[in-house]
Amino acid sequence: MERMTRRQFVVTSAVAVGGLISMGAVQPGGIMADEIKWIESDCKKEGKKYLVAYESNCGSTSGVAKAIADVMCEQEVAVDVRHIKNITDVSIYDGVVIGSAVKSASWCPEAIRFVKDNQGHLKRIPVFYFLTCLALYTDTQKNRELAQTYFNPVLKAVPEVKPRAMEAFAGALDYSKLNMVVRMIMKSKMEKQGVPEGDFRDFQKIESWAQNTVLPVLY
Ligand SMILES: Cc1cc2nc3c(=O)[nH]c(=O)nc-3n(C[C@H](O)[C@H](O)[C@H](O)COP(=O)(O)O)c2cc1C
Repeated sequence: MERMTRRQFVVTSAVAVGGLISMGAVQPGGIMADEIKWIESDCKKEGKKYLVAYESNCGSTSGVAKAIADVMCEQEVAVDVRHIKNITDVSIYDGVVIGSAVKSASWCPEAIRFVKDNQGHLKRIPVFYFLTCLALYTDTQKNRELAQTYFNPVLKAVPEVKPRAMEAFAGALDYSKLNMVVRMIMKSKMEKQGVPEGDFRDFQKIESWAQNTVLPVLY
């Protein structure tokens, strides 16, 4: 077989990846975003206005955001649930709960950027952080401590915003929502760690955090 020049290799690889992208096998973001339902909701009531903002790869973190908002909505207040990419004005809110799925031991970059871009307002109002991850598939003290370290990148990037509380929740793993390449990598990693595919969100724990940690600060 003829040897390829470096230039030929680069061009051939780019064409191959381009072909896979057009087939839907590989998406630049790494996720099959078309099939994902991003939950957004409002409970329009009189009184103070709160935001539950989230960043998510596969959609399950939006369900956690909605569960937190549903608890807050039981009070006489307005609560919006929004995907971070759809938030245009944070200054209208009296308090914000911000959550992100974990990717590579950190909040997603979009969530960190959201805090950074809006720090002027966020440092003046009550703010809460949460995350979803698979480290908490097994809920041990060691894993809880590990999951708390996933907040470090945002705390380091925007130290001026000081959350009143930070909570880590177990998330979900759905291979059908990942593209071919990410699915292969995740399968191999998760099999080694003994994490099966499934939805590990504990809504009782999530609602209890909203009820006992978030509400007492806001009301
Ligand atoms: C590419 C990728 C990287 C991930 N990295 C981590 C990680 O470093 N630590 C962890 O505990 N969970 C990790 N997870 C698991 C996700 O944080 C978890 O599945 C989360 O619930 C996904 O939320 P989502 O459905 O809103 O995207 C990763 C998931 C994916 C797809």
